[in-house]
Amino acid sequence: MKLWIVLILIIGGVQCDGFSDQVFKTLNIGEGNACYRTFNKTHEFGCQATKDNENGLIVRIDKHEDFKNLDSCWRSFYPPYSGKFWAMVPVDLIRRDSISMLKSSECLAGIVLYNSNQSMHPDEKTTAASHDGDCPNAASDYYFQNDTEAYCERKFNSRGSITPDGLMRMDWRVQMIFINNSTDLDVIKRCYSMFNTPREDGSTGYPYCGMSFRMTNMAAGNSEICYRRGKNDAKLFQMNIDSGDAPQLCGAMHSDNIFAFPTPIPTTPFNDTHHSSKYMMVASRMDSFGMIPEVSVGEVSVLTSIISVLAAARSMGDNIEKWKKASNVSNRNIFFSFFNGESLDYIGSGTTAYQMGKGMFPQSLREDRAHIHPVLLEELEYVLEVQQVGVAEGRKYYVHIDGDRYDQDRTPTDKIMDKIERGLRSHGFDLEKPSGSQRKVPPSSWHSFAKADSKVKAVLIAPFKEEYDYKRINSILDKNQWTSDEKEKAVQEIEAVATSILAASAEYVGLETDDVVAKVDKKLVTTLFECLITSNFWFDCDFMQKLDGGRYHKLFDSYGFNEKSTYISMETHTAFPTVLHWLTIFALGSDKETLNVKSEKSCSHLGQFQAMYTYTWQPSPYTGSFSCLKSAIVKKVMVSPAVDPSTPEEEMNTRYSTWMESVYIIENVNLYLMEDSSFEYTMLIISVISALLSMIAVIRCSEATFIVDEGEPAAEGGEPL
Ligand SMILES: *[C@@H]1O[C@H](CO)[C@@H](O)[C@H](O)[C@H]1NC(C)=O
Ligand SMILES: *[C@@H]1O[C@H](CO)[C@@H](O)[C@H](O)[C@H]1NC(C)=O
Ligand SMILES: *[C@@H]1O[C@H](CO)[C@@H](O)[C@H](O)[C@H]1NC(C)=O
Ligand SMILES: *[C@@H]1O[C@H](CO)[C@@H](O)[C@H](O)[C@H]1NC(C)=O
Ligand SMILES: *[C@@H]1O[C@H](CO)[C@@H](O)[C@H](O)[C@H]1NC(C)=O
Ligand SMILES: *[C@@H]1O[C@H](CO)[C@@H](O)[C@H](O)[C@H]1NC(C)=O
Ligand SMILES: *[C@@H]1O[C@H](CO)[C@@H](O)[C@H](O)[C@H]1NC(C)=O
Repeated sequence: MKLWIVLILIIGGVQCDGFSDQVFKTLNIGEGNACYRTFNKTHEFGCQATKDNENGLIVRIDKHEDFKNLDSCWRSFYPPYSGKFWAMVPVDLIRRDSISMLKSSECLAGIVLYNSNQSMHPDEKTTAASHDGDCPNAASDYYFQNDTEAYCERKFNSRGSITPDGLMRMDWRVQMIFINNSTDLDVIKRCYSMFNTPREDGSTGYPYCGMSFRMTNMAAGNSEICYRRGKNDAKLFQMNIDSGDAPQLCGAMHSDNIFAFPTPIPTTPFNDTHHSSKYMMVASRMDSFGMIPEVSVGEVSVLTSIISVLAAARSMGDNIEKWKKASNVSNRNIFFSFFNGESLDYIGSGTTAYQMGKGMFPQSLREDRAHIHPVLLEELEYVLEVQQVGVAEGRKYYVHIDGDRYDQDRTPTDKIMDKIERGLRSHGFDLEKPSGSQRKVPPSSWHSFAKADSKVKAVLIAPFKEEYDYKRINSILDKNQWTSDEKEKAVQEIEAVATSILAASAEYVGLETDDVVAKVDKKLVTTLFECLITSNFWFDCDFMQKLDGGRYHKLFDSYGFNEKSTYISMETHTAFPTVLHWLTIFALGSDKETLNVKSEKSCSHLGQFQAMYTYTWQPSPYTGSFSCLKSAIVKKVMVSPAVDPSTPEEEMNTRYSTWMESVYIIENVNLYLMEDSSFEYTMLIISVISALLSMIAVIRCSEATFIVDEGEPAAEGGEPL
């Protein structure tokens, strides 16, 4: 039956303004594989379908010279055609010298991005490919907000950024999709080469291969507008609770953050809040981004550093009695924070600082039972963060501190830096300590705490000095091909940094750093590198499959959970927080006291009415056998107070992240044949007539006309719209 072709001819002819559509192939674009709309407090960014950017003739941009066709709008190739184009562009051609041409083109409907076969190495020096700006998180920088620096004064990412403001902060007129399915990509390429490549004499003619796509956003403007409307809608919803779902238009970007407390926080009766401890927070971020959400894995932006923190945590877990004893004596504690949404103006750390200020961290006080004493801002002495581990030039690392705060009491920080130096040296790396002018902290989670408290000190360990050497931070292309030498060097760096985290932590809590305390399991580092970085998905390696123990697919089956992504959105729909949560429980959980617990049910019973500890029925990644692990680890959704409906309205200021995203509707990509307009009317009339003739005959559509891929059963079966 070819009824559907007739139907599409009618619908298409009426709907699509001047296009005679004969859809012969529909491609499904997964959620997260297209550019959509995001907002900060004052601006909107991203992509939106309009009447002008939906349909276009497919063209290819395969090399840099092809961009000049954007100026001439390919007119010499397609003289009879005056419409718009969908350009197929490999992601590595999105560069400084091409972005303005893409942005300003008058004839582009959209861009179909795909992975090129070009391999990228971590030390590849020529391509500036970061989707972040010259100054990551410039507007939420402590020094800028404190008036000690101008906006974007220190340009850490200026070697790598494609545009000074960052691609994430661009308002596109065109639409954008990313296609990674090779079958789908082949169909588009073949459609192009069959109909749109010029013949030998350089000429082309109808019919052309066209493409249509729509990504419709429900919200527009900026997050302030959206937030206000959302609140009103929520009120309406409350008045009419029977009406079904609230008509949500946009939502705050948010995701899970993970906090792990190796040594117990004092639990106090509810009326006692006087107990005080001191803390060093070991921090690392979980998120990175690119213009197309699902595609940003963030190897160097996040994953390598997270592995070094995990390795340090595991080592601490192995010697936990020593650490507990030292903490008990010194009243100083280490805890781990994996922040999410940091690349979008510090969503995770900003919210944490807010909650600490309100005595709500790590959990809100409860009147009815004993609670964990809250970690307060004034108890937080240090934020130790690691960044961009694995891409050092040579064997050198840097430590960054805030000069003003350092000068108030140098000795403890000096001691910590000495220990970091010794940790790195023990693995053959050098440390350059801060001096002179270089005494301001690069973009990092510390800025959130610095804004909230004038005492908390920063210690940032990273392989860069005044500018990032790695040019693909927060980018689609932060996904490297590591040679075995590069991999070995990266593993050594991770190990060295993990050692210095342990050495610095031991110094802080007053534990003697010896071979046991500062010993990092190199095999674990190598395994995690293979599992989180080399593998295509989080659960592709044996170690992670054992750690999973069949839990993952029970929890999640949606599309987003099957992609390796570290992007955050208004829905917590990526697997990474869960993966990291399990790894943290593996690193710090203990079954010493629960060896007699033999079932999931009795394990979860132990956790009831517990303030501090959670009990998780989880397999060992080495043996695969389950046990009941006791730990003090929370996975916590954090919504920036600026856009959190449960915090007061006056919090909508620039101190906290204001990123929101629009609810969107993503439609399929349709490939169709474009005929010239005289033919269009003929076809329309024909199709109307054929429809009137009770839709029996399909006049022109012999099968061979429409099927590009002969071997494709889907094309033959046809999936209209
Ligand atoms: C929103 O982004 C724009 C463009 O980067 C910037 O100029 C503006 O300051 C940002 N607004 C806030 C509140 O961060
Ligand atoms: C990459 O693709 C181009 C054309 O698509 C081809 O000429 C080139 O040989 C390929 N390179 C590799 C390394 O496969
Ligand atoms: C900036 O921070 C310093 C040190 O915390 C403080 O003394 C000063 O008042 C702050 N300046 C402004 C304008 O907030
Ligand atoms: C695209 O698919 C290939 C193979 O199917 C896979 O190796 C790669 O990780 C995918 N890339 C992304 C960005 O999803
Ligand atoms: C690509 O998409 C087709 C459907 O269009 C699907 O059958 C196939 O499994 C997909 N391939 C991959 C590698 O995901
Ligand atoms: C506060 O705690 C003490 C014991 O620590 C108890 O004796 C006292 O009754 C409590 N006060 C209130 C108001 O519950
Ligand atoms: C901490 O030390 C005190 C004595 O100084 C002891 O009573 C207490 O049990 C110790 N606590 C832990 C958790 O080791």
